[in-house]
Amino acid sequence: MASENRTSGLVIDYRNATATAVGEEHGVSATDLDDIAPKVADEHARIGQEHDSGVQKWQDLPDNTELADEIVTFAGDVRDRFSDFILIGIGGSSLGAIATIGALGHPFRNLLPPDQREGPRFFVLDNPDPEKVAATLETVNLESTLVNVVSKSGQTAETAANFLVVRDALHRAVGPDKARDQIVATTDPAEGLLRQLSDQEGYRTFPVPPGVDGRQTVLSAVGLLPAAIAGVDVHGMLAGAAAMRERATSSDVRENPAYLLAALSVLADTKHHKPMLVTMPYADALYGIADWFRQLWAESLGKKLSVNGSVVNAGQTPIKALGAIDQHSQIQLYTEGPNDKLIQLIAVGGYRDTVAIPDPPGSMPELGYFTGGELGQLLDRERLATSWALTGAQRPNLTITTPSIDAFALGEFFYLLQLQTVMAGALYDVNPFGQPGVEAGKNATYALMGRSGYEALKAELLTEPENARAYINDA
Ligand code: PA5
Repeated sequence: MASENRTSGLVIDYRNATATAVGEEHGVSATDLDDIAPKVADEHARIGQEHDSGVQKWQDLPDNTELADEIVTFAGDVRDRFSDFILIGIGGSSLGAIATIGALGHPFRNLLPPDQREGPRFFVLDNPDPEKVAATLETVNLESTLVNVVSKSGQTAETAANFLVVRDALHRAVGPDKARDQIVATTDPAEGLLRQLSDQEGYRTFPVPPGVDGRQTVLSAVGLLPAAIAGVDVHGMLAGAAAMRERATSSDVRENPAYLLAALSVLADTKHHKPMLVTMPYADALYGIADWFRQLWAESLGKKLSVNGSVVNAGQTPIKALGAIDQHSQIQLYTEGPNDKLIQLIAVGGYRDTVAIPDPPGSMPELGYFTGGELGQLLDRERLATSWALTGAQRPNLTITTPSIDAFALGEFFYLLQLQTVMAGALYDVNPFGQPGVEAGKNATYALMGRSGYEALKAELLTEPENARAYINDA
């Protein structure tokens, strides 16, 4: 179906997270939801006002179809010119693209011959891990590599260092003039070191929208440009996000899917001692969404101070798991260990491939139950079985089902989970924007690396004996 005619298709089933299913102690009751409903409605109004005053700009990203057009044109120009594509960025500057390409690209896209692959091979340099960076530079053909460096602030140490390494390798391989055409920067339109360098060296640039935190940029050029280069239907993603936005307009906690998910998770934490939230898709392709959401949930909600300035140390630890693999790793703990988790399973209505399970040899009647079976059916029944086992052990769980895995559904997920996070922040009374804890670590890194302007912090850090010892051994 053309994406412009499609409506949101995600289905949320939260029956197994309720007191009826798992008992009063562990499950959210109807009274819990009734009690939190006025707060949700108030916060809905406040978030709407914030949006009108320009604070919740991430909500407008699905409308940026002009930018998507520009990205599609650029991607069309470069897709066949380059054999390799390196994305350099970390956290919110890479997780969205990794999730998108992981969900919508061929699982072995880098191994496919060029004529069977949509776009260049895709590599990500997020960690400044010397082994991975060196291996990437050995693997790509630098003469036909497009580099996309992504940084909102333009100064994150990991990204800056990885970029300097790759830029230098490009300069040596093809010379500075040609290298310039092989670099595209996604950064703040006006500020920051990467903006300065891009203007100085004449790189093609795309904007990171001002007023939007890195972890909310998946539907901006940050996520869409790498996705389009990998052949993803970025207009379909925006349409899916817009469809979810349209669906999630009610102030009623039971009507608005994002608010419902937010209320269930916050109530699970604050009233039913569930300080952990597991996201467990039953599709390898959606594991990246769980990883992307993990950052979103952790950085947005993990806050020391409430909006009123009192110390609350809020947050719920997000965990990613993958069905069915983690049934053989984590589920023992989730089912019989501490009852401290809400588990959100992600189900898929129809997988993109059907793989029949051949009839077992007659000598193995024990495997006869596979007869006429199919792998997707097995995987989905494992999900049902897990949900059943968790519920039986009074472990609250809910299921979000997507009818299919495609660009539209992915856009829906991205919007839904972002709105869930914003409302969860409101219910915890914390500001879901900003990441002071991350910035503290970034500043300490600058200080320990000897960046000018950070001398006082360096001196302060080195008064801690442990730090001083490590630093002196290192230096
Ligand atoms: O969500 C965020 O703001 C962070 O996770 C950032 O994305 C991350 O720290 C990278 O920052 P930058 O894009 O400024 O390099």
